[in-house]
Amino acid sequence: MLSIIVAISKNYCIGNGGRIPWKIPGEQKRFKELTTGNTVIMGRRTFAEIGHPLPNRKTVLVSNTYTWNDENCVTVGSFEEALRVSDPLHNEVYVAGGAGIYRAALPYADRLYITFVDIEVDGDTFFPRFDKYGFEQVECTCFDGEIPYRYVTYERRPASPDEA
Ligand SMILES: NC(=O)c1ccc[n+]([C@@H]2O[C@H](COP(=O)([O-])OP(=O)(O)OC[C@H]3O[C@@H](n4cnc5c(N)ncnc54)[C@H](OP(=O)(O)O)[C@@H]3O)[C@@H](O)[C@H]2O)c1
Repeated sequence: MLSIIVAISKNYCIGNGGRIPWKIPGEQKRFKELTTGNTVIMGRRTFAEIGHPLPNRKTVLVSNTYTWNDENCVTVGSFEEALRVSDPLHNEVYVAGGAGIYRAALPYADRLYITFVDIEVDGDTFFPRFDKYGFEQVECTCFDGEIPYRYVTYERRPASPDEA
C-alpha cells in the first residue's frame, strides 16, 4: 500500500522558504497517528525542515547530495529506489513530500491522505494538480477554528476493463 500524505492550502501550496506556511494546533495529529510504526519517504528539503529521522518510523530519505544512514533512516538516490527499499507490498508506505517526490509518487499511489487547509497562502512549493476522478473520496472530517481544515482520504478507483 503506497499512500501520499500532505496538507494543501486552497491554492495547492505546501511550502514556503523550506517551511510549511501555516501553524494550526492539532493539524498534524493525523500525520503522526498514521505514520507511526510505518515507513515514510521524503525529499532532502523536507528532511532538513524536520532535522532528523522521524521517531518510531523508518525514514527513507531521497537525496543525491546529503546522506543520513542509521537504524531508522536510509538514504537513496531516486524515488524508484525508495520504493524498492520500502517494500510497499508488505507495509503501508507514506510519501511525505516535497513536490518532486509527490509528483513521482502520484502514478503509484493507492491512497491519498490530504488535509485541505482553508486559506490562500504565498509560497514557493505546490502539490501537483491530480486527476481526482481516478480516486474515490472515502472519508472527510471537518475541523473548525481560526483556520478551518478537513481531513480527506481518497482511494484509487480500480482501472476499468478498457484500461486494464
Ligand atoms: N504541506 C505539507 O504537507 C508538506 C509536506 C512536505 C513538505 N512540505 C514543504 O515543502 C517544501 C519542501 O519540498 P521541496 O519540493 O522544496 O523539496 P523536497 O522534495 O523535500 O526535497 C527536494 C530534494 O529532494 C531530492 N529529491 C526530490 N525528488 C527527487 C527525485 N525524484 N529523485 C531524486 N532526488 C529527489 C533532491 O535532493 P538533492 O538535491 O539532495 O539530490 C531534491 O533537491 C518545504 O517548504 C516543506 O515545508 C510541505
